[in-house]
Amino acid sequence: MLTWDEEVKPSLPKDMQQGLHHSSQNSAPAARSMEVPTSQSTPSARKLDDGATAPSRALSAATTQAAPAVAHRVNAADKRIINGQTDVNQLVPFKYKWAWEKYLATCANHWMPQEVNMTRDIALWKDPNGLTEDERRIIKRNLGFFVTADSLAANNIVLGTYRHITAPECRQFLLRQAFEEAIHTHAYQYIVESLGLDESEIFNAYNEVKSIRDKDEFLIPFIEAISDPHFKTGTHETDQTLLKSLIVFACLMEGLFFYVGFTQILALGRQNKMTGAAEQYQYILRDESMHCNFGIDLINQLKLENPQLWTTEFKAEIKALFLKAVELEYQYAEDTMPRGVLGMNASMFKGYLRYIANRRAQQIGLETLFPNEENPFPWMSEMIDLKKERNFFETRVIEYQSGGALSWD
Ligand SMILES: [Fe+2]
Ligand SMILES: [Fe+2]
Repeated sequence: MLTWDEEVKPSLPKDMQQGLHHSSQNSAPAARSMEVPTSQSTPSARKLDDGATAPSRALSAATTQAAPAVAHRVNAADKRIINGQTDVNQLVPFKYKWAWEKYLATCANHWMPQEVNMTRDIALWKDPNGLTEDERRIIKRNLGFFVTADSLAANNIVLGTYRHITAPECRQFLLRQAFEEAIHTHAYQYIVESLGLDESEIFNAYNEVKSIRDKDEFLIPFIEAISDPHFKTGTHETDQTLLKSLIVFACLMEGLFFYVGFTQILALGRQNKMTGAAEQYQYILRDESMHCNFGIDLINQLKLENPQLWTTEFKAEIKALFLKAVELEYQYAEDTMPRGVLGMNASMFKGYLRYIANRRAQQIGLETLFPNEENPFPWMSEMIDLKKERNFFETRVIEYQSGGALSWD
């Protein structure tokens, strides 16, 4: 069993170990602290951030000492969230234990869409009197947003965020997160297929439905900025661009744009309607809560390591993005609920979105945006806090553990 106190054993090949004769190669903490500290990466070092040429980076660090040009062992203290110069291929020694713990937690929550029984949903959808037109509109709009939203999230990670993050523990989480986004897209597709919806209509909603298109158009520039192959962190401006992108995705996409949709489908489930879809959404909500929390930890660690990025102007820019996101999500709420339905109406969501935006702002160290907002849907907080949550829809155990969490004892 791995514990945090265990000393990481040398793992270099024997012939390399024999060549390492100076004290900094010893794995004792005191000796390791003598290794070359890393600072902001130089333009030439930043070329190595994709990890493909990490051994060269290790060699180039070694050449800064008088010792023979051999690869240095990674000193945890030298790791950085961005612009790090330690070898991104070496997961240990751990520095960002919170990222590793979240990676383990997400793996223990593994689930697959086809494990959820959709029979009752199919019968209800096909029954002409099973659902009202307003309820059907909510379901179609919901799927219209989500069938492409999680592909956007996955592409943002794989093509953008991942290569700019130089902490391997965080990369490990991002790999798992990318797979979970694929599972979510699969889940939405599975619901569309189960209900026999018009796939073309649902998958094109992000082009054809204004309230959905507006949200995606808000997000896409932040994906494009960091997935541009010429984009590199390492300057004040580009580091701020990356930080902004992380904030938009964790706090505004996963942390805000998903919440009208989640609340609506879970409200249906609470009324014993579309319980299969609601169960899928509940698993997705659990995953997204973890993604959002990881993203916030990542943002705060990046801020801690780079306090110069958190300027007054930057904070004002972020605040404006929060306000815009609340407005867009409220427009989406109005579009999906032209009338009151399921005991909810659009104006209740105005309060809810402001309440969530306040929470996200506080989590990254911004001032509260909307004073005195209260949560109109306290049951959603219970849903999110799944440690307390029993099997809500009484169809299966929520906190089931997959094979990934088996103990060998
Ligand atoms: Fe997702
Ligand atoms: Fe996510």
